[in-house]
Amino acid sequence: APCAMVDLLGRRITYLRLSVTDRCDLRCVYCMAEDMTFLPRDQVLSIEELDRLASAFIAMGVTKLRITGGEPLVRKGIMDLFGALSRHLSCGALKELTLTTNGTQLSRHADALARCGVKRVNVSLDTLDPARFRAITRRGTLGQVMDGIRAAREAGLKVKLNAVALAGTTEREVFDLIGFAHGNGMDLTFIETMPLGEVGADRIDQYLPLDRLRALIETRLELTDTAERTGGPARYARVGSTGGRIGFITPMSHSFCESCNRVRVSATGVLYTCLGQEDAVGLKTPLRASPDDGPLHAAIAGAIRAKPRGHDFVIDRGGAPALARHMSALGG
Ligand code: GTP
Ligand code: 5AD
Ligand code: SF4
Repeated sequence: APCAMVDLLGRRITYLRLSVTDRCDLRCVYCMAEDMTFLPRDQVLSIEELDRLASAFIAMGVTKLRITGGEPLVRKGIMDLFGALSRHLSCGALKELTLTTNGTQLSRHADALARCGVKRVNVSLDTLDPARFRAITRRGTLGQVMDGIRAAREAGLKVKLNAVALAGTTEREVFDLIGFAHGNGMDLTFIETMPLGEVGADRIDQYLPLDRLRALIETRLELTDTAERTGGPARYARVGSTGGRIGFITPMSHSFCESCNRVRVSATGVLYTCLGQEDAVGLKTPLRASPDDGPLHAAIAGAIRAKPRGHDFVIDRGGAPALARHMSALGG
């Protein structure tokens, strides 16, 4: 009953972001604390349960499924999940099966992902400078990610790069990032940093409104807005000289909540109906209560009806407190 997927504000939910783990091999400064405590493994859903949960959303009208983390490719058995989920592509119920990854494990998995029907991956990459990469991610090496990107492209996957815009850093590298992305046939999306987790003065100082970044880009490159969308919140502009696209995700400066089409499920089976609110419904209990999906469908439909109007993030010293939850818990 796809009508179950329309909220009280008339927004149709067709996009599920399913987190398969809260763990990650990196510790990006805007995403995690240095000393994260991860969930005990017995609280995390099994691969079979994740499959059943995703399948319930697809039966209810979800047509786009993005696997997230933490870092999804560090989850044990992750390729079994992709393998199982690919059946929904074959039958046409699911239009897109994809993931957002930090890229460190991508070279091992790219071929298998392509075989499962994944056409496109989003890879987080904020910098092309190895030392800066280390400073942002606190571990890992840029080379691993570059290898992952290359492997994905060789496997025939389209790659979109995601860069969180950081004042003082992104401005210096923006033209190199565009050159790298477009020189290799990849879209590049910039994202405004959102205040989740513990947000200190440094995070506030790092906020870079994308209008400013766009103005900088336009000092050297001609941008033409396009109406093309990829199903997420990005608005794209095409660069005349490269033919490539730049995406802008602006939750802070130009929110896109009124056309929101998505919900998130954590690796523990909690349905969050807005990235920027605490509104949540546990699905583990209805999932485990019965092999019949009735209780699960009812819980999902009830939560979606009451989806919040939007976030109320503000970047403002002494302003409203950020959500205590880290970005990594829900995969953005
Ligand atoms: P496409 O399928 O390529 O359009 O992907 P996407 O933009 O939906 O997914 P991706 O995982 O690449 O998300 C990029 C960034 O957009 C992440 O930092 C997300 O946190 C942010 N984002 C995605 N959806 C939302 C949302 O509903 N609200 C807010 N505030 N941010 C979002
Ligand atoms: N604000 C905006 N984007 C973030 N991401 C992680 N933390 C934040 C934040 N605080 C991004 C990652 C990745 C995507 C899933 O979310 O860089 O590209
Ligand atoms: Fe949707 Fe909430 Fe994100 Fe707004 S903040 S776009 S309502 S998930």
